[in-house]
Amino acid sequence: MAFTIPALFLNAVLLVDAAASSYPTSSWTLQEANKPATVVVSSLEGPIDGPKFDYINSTVYQWWYFDVVSSDLESCLTVQFNIGSELALGFGNASEILPYVAINGKFPNGTLFDMASVPATNITIQTIGQGSSGVWEGTGCSWEGTPDLSEYVLTLNAPEQGIQGSVYLKSISPAQYPFNLLSQQLYNVSESVLPGFYWANSIPGALGGVDLTIRGDRLLFDGSGYHDSNWGTIGLPKVAGSWYWGHAQVGDLTIVFSTVEGRTQTVSSIYIGNDPTLIIIGNVTVTPVTGSNYPNGTLNIALDAAFDGKYEFLIVPTDIVYSTPAPKYTRWIGIIEGGLVGGESQKGVVLWEYFYFG
Ligand SMILES: *[C@@H]1O[C@H](CO)[C@@H](O)[C@H](O)[C@H]1NC(C)=O
Ligand SMILES: *[C@@H]1O[C@H](CO)[C@@H](O)[C@H](O)[C@H]1NC(C)=O
Ligand SMILES: *[C@@H]1O[C@H](CO)[C@@H](O)[C@H](O)[C@H]1NC(C)=O
Ligand SMILES: *[C@@H]1O[C@H](CO)[C@@H](O)[C@H](O)[C@H]1NC(C)=O
Ligand SMILES: *[C@@H]1O[C@H](CO)[C@@H](O)[C@H](O)[C@H]1NC(C)=O
Ligand SMILES: *[C@@H]1O[C@H](CO)[C@@H](O)[C@H](O)[C@H]1NC(C)=O
Ligand SMILES: *[C@@H]1O[C@H](CO)[C@@H](O)[C@H](O)[C@H]1NC(C)=O
Repeated sequence: MAFTIPALFLNAVLLVDAAASSYPTSSWTLQEANKPATVVVSSLEGPIDGPKFDYINSTVYQWWYFDVVSSDLESCLTVQFNIGSELALGFGNASEILPYVAINGKFPNGTLFDMASVPATNITIQTIGQGSSGVWEGTGCSWEGTPDLSEYVLTLNAPEQGIQGSVYLKSISPAQYPFNLLSQQLYNVSESVLPGFYWANSIPGALGGVDLTIRGDRLLFDGSGYHDSNWGTIGLPKVAGSWYWGHAQVGDLTIVFSTVEGRTQTVSSIYIGNDPTLIIIGNVTVTPVTGSNYPNGTLNIALDAAFDGKYEFLIVPTDIVYSTPAPKYTRWIGIIEGGLVGGESQKGVVLWEYFYFG
């Protein structure tokens, strides 16, 4: 998928204001409260990419996640806008609600960068149509999305953290809830992955462009982009023991897969789009190839979608691009190869993660 960064960024002036008049809009600012918050759990309760709580208490959380992995697998970038306490996420007992932005990734020479967390003083989120725009005040970081989710621009302007520039996503695939497309939203479909844990995938696949200066070094690349949001009311370790999640661009196929080993059940799903049309949302088997305790990254992905065919993919890492020791977490980038069984095998790029909660 060849395109040039300058051309990509020329398009990066979004028509949000012009479009606003014909779409429903809403505005949200961070409000903390010490009582039950109302949580969005189904599609008719709010825009897919909006805030999912009326206000934030010490035991609820939400994040908006964006990434781009370069077509040559040399670079990647992940940006996450977070709200929630350690207690809410289940990784500690601190009840202080921490709004922050996390930015990390990889330079072409292998050097990793990590602006661990840039704290925000306030948050405002506007929704227009199904899209949203968010400002994490005091961080210099924000995003702006179109009402139809077709384009998103991130502005990262935090010179005191040594980071400045922008990220552009042009969607190539229809948005999904767990097991349903956004186009099914009028059926009030569920946004729940497991009780107390929710997911909305506004951009399963995008043409992504990154133009940043990080501590004086330019990071400029294009590749496969992605955007989603997760939120919850129960700490992650109580909901799940572990999960795999990843997204890939394999020829014309956009793929998003996950398998969440929940405390009571395992929920696995795969989305395959042949841009811009959906082929499958269904069940999948994700099998780590390694026999050791902690996965080394190599994965087999297989699904049997009856009349839609059998698909198989092999994922092989080229780099670990982010990891944390507790909770144990690894993010890889690498090569994905496969397709329809018996059909032509295609190769592409993939970014994926393994979370182990113990
Ligand atoms: C926060 O809101 C959630 C969702 O309504 C509720 O389950 C939880 O008990 C609330 N937490 C506090 C500390 O009020
Ligand atoms: C949180 O508090 C519980 C109960 O007091 C304790 O068992 C646990 O070790 C604490 N967790 C952390 C991360 O401090
Ligand atoms: C956040 O912004 C809103 C809207 O401007 C304002 O009403 C609120 O007081 C601000 N909160 C903080 C903690 O500054
Ligand atoms: C959508 O489903 C939720 C959860 O079942 C329910 O609370 C809500 O009232 C429904 N909304 C509409 C408009 O039907
Ligand atoms: C790798 O690239 C980064 C960013 O350009 C630079 O800061 C760093 O010095 C380079 N490291 C090596 C070992 O060349
Ligand atoms: C998904 O596939 C797995 C492995 O084949 C199977 O164990 C599981 O029951 C399936 N889940 C559903 C909801 O069909
Ligand atoms: C991971 O383990 C598999 C199976 O033992 C092996 O084939 C593969 O080379 C390993 N990959 C890495 C990156 O170590």
